[in-house]
Amino acid sequence: MCGIIGYSGKREAAEVLLEGLRNLEYRGYDSAGIALFTQTGLKTYKAQGRLSQLEALLGDRLPDGQCGIGHTRWATHGAPSDVNAHPHASGKVTLVHNGILENYMDLKEILLNKGRIFTSQTDTEVIAQWLDEEYGKTPDPMAAICRTLKVLRGSYALGILFADHPGALYAVRKDSPLIVGLGQGENFIASDVTAILPYTRDYLLMEENEIAVVTPERAGLFTQDGQPFTREASHADWDISAAQKGGYAHFMRKEIDEQPHALEATLSPRLTGESIDFSADGVEDAFLSDFRSIQIVACGTAMHAGLIGKHLIESLARIPVSVNIASEYRYSNPIVGRDDLVIIVSQSGETADTLAALRLAKACGARTLAIVNVVGSSIAREAERVLYTYAGPEIAVASTKAFSVQMAMFYLLALRIASLSGTLSAKAAAVYVEKLKKLPRMVEDTLKAAGSCKEAVSDLVNASDLFYIGRGLDNCLCMEGSLKLKEISYLHSESYAAGELKHGAISLITEKVPVIAVATQPELLEKMVSNMREVKARGGFVLALCRAGSVIPEDAADRVIYLPDSVEEDLFAPLAAIVPLQLIAYEIAVLRGCDVDKPRNLAKSVTVE
Ligand code: F6R
Repeated sequence: MCGIIGYSGKREAAEVLLEGLRNLEYRGYDSAGIALFTQTGLKTYKAQGRLSQLEALLGDRLPDGQCGIGHTRWATHGAPSDVNAHPHASGKVTLVHNGILENYMDLKEILLNKGRIFTSQTDTEVIAQWLDEEYGKTPDPMAAICRTLKVLRGSYALGILFADHPGALYAVRKDSPLIVGLGQGENFIASDVTAILPYTRDYLLMEENEIAVVTPERAGLFTQDGQPFTREASHADWDISAAQKGGYAHFMRKEIDEQPHALEATLSPRLTGESIDFSADGVEDAFLSDFRSIQIVACGTAMHAGLIGKHLIESLARIPVSVNIASEYRYSNPIVGRDDLVIIVSQSGETADTLAALRLAKACGARTLAIVNVVGSSIAREAERVLYTYAGPEIAVASTKAFSVQMAMFYLLALRIASLSGTLSAKAAAVYVEKLKKLPRMVEDTLKAAGSCKEAVSDLVNASDLFYIGRGLDNCLCMEGSLKLKEISYLHSESYAAGELKHGAISLITEKVPVIAVATQPELLEKMVSNMREVKARGGFVLALCRAGSVIPEDAADRVIYLPDSVEEDLFAPLAAIVPLQLIAYEIAVLRGCDVDKPRNLAKSVTVE
């Protein structure tokens, strides 16, 4: 969603801001803008559309100046337009905003009654005008910010400039991430560490309701009442190459290839000798024992990883698990309490619905465990315990490597919980641990066969509808494969439990409608073959995805993609099978000329409900 970058130092701010915005593009946006202190005063430039529109507006000679703020907007209040783009200015105040101001109508009404005139439809302009009103009463930025914060309701990360304080950046954070980047003779603010990676990896995490004042020499933190305090700096392990394409046409393709490495990084620290150990994560065995049920809560791809997790935990540990869509959880009056373990899954750690669900589970007294990729994110900080996945930065909007490491974490968790609950012997656990160690290699082998996916897409690319069918674990994978395809290629697809197709949706299977049948589980293969034949009998086109050595009769499939021999264990097949599904979606999107890394209407981190 929206991105913020701010700079104060000795470099040309416009260059730093534009580079920062380029590094934030992946979050999804529909307009962009910058404001900076130039020799002739504070100037704002903004444009609807991609960053190239803003660059065209700025022309060949970028405005001079060493301090400024930049923003990529993802419209919530008011359509995408030049006027609604950020920064928004009022009097001496110019600011950018991520989040949603919930009481903006009430505040706007008060401001309108004071005779103020609004030029945009945004909630953000209300904040700018209110702050300017306060600043007019006492021209002290900190005092005006503190007074303004008292009336704002909702979520906001703000980057603020005051026209008569050149060189100083002010920032505020509530329910929307913001960090302060620490350089030598220069400092930054950013909604996301990737924006500042070219300059520094040291930063201060801003917590709820904190204010930052940033100049080239100082980066100070203050409470919401303006009291200064200090905090130890954090260091990002991610380096800039992880956030660059490195010769790939798209981040998504690069991230698909990074899966073996991400799996290794996530699995190996938890595999000690013959068992699984989370003690270095601070997740002690007692935390993973003795509960009534497990509830997994997440959105989108992370929720699909949760479906795999349910299957694994239930089959290995025989403990009931429910998987909940985070946006529904709060409104479903969940039966949750101190006897339950709630597992929250999120790549970004900032998804608003997931965060809200976590807060509810905590309020109900449940044990909360987060599986998160972004260190220091809101969900990671608020959950009782956190297990980090080590996928590195995921830049493409469509999640790939984060999904694989979330699945990997569920393998580890399911096996550990099963050992603790006594349903898995130490000997059996040790066998699984040996197999877990081979998973990165198995995924690497699967990637080597990428060519077969490229060939297969020629049969699918011109379809207008496509179906995915599978059973058990494969059914969960189908949901993810289908989501991947529709989000990046805009090709309509649906995922059906293979046995459920004949209860309605089979009426949509007509001549040449493609159906991808995922059949990696030997004990379900026969049933899957019957389902494929049902499709073939209606003229549909079947592409089967199955294990090496599986026998797929000629009358059941038009084309078969085989996983490599190294996929030995049924339970681990999803980690391999997801690769061809990701590649098929990717190749189709490329052939259809789609903007693979930044699909329309989508944002990487959905920080509004
Ligand atoms: C799809 C995708 C989304 C996210 C979902 C949750 O490719 O990326 O469905 O999985 O928005 O995001 P996180 O994991 O950041 O909470």
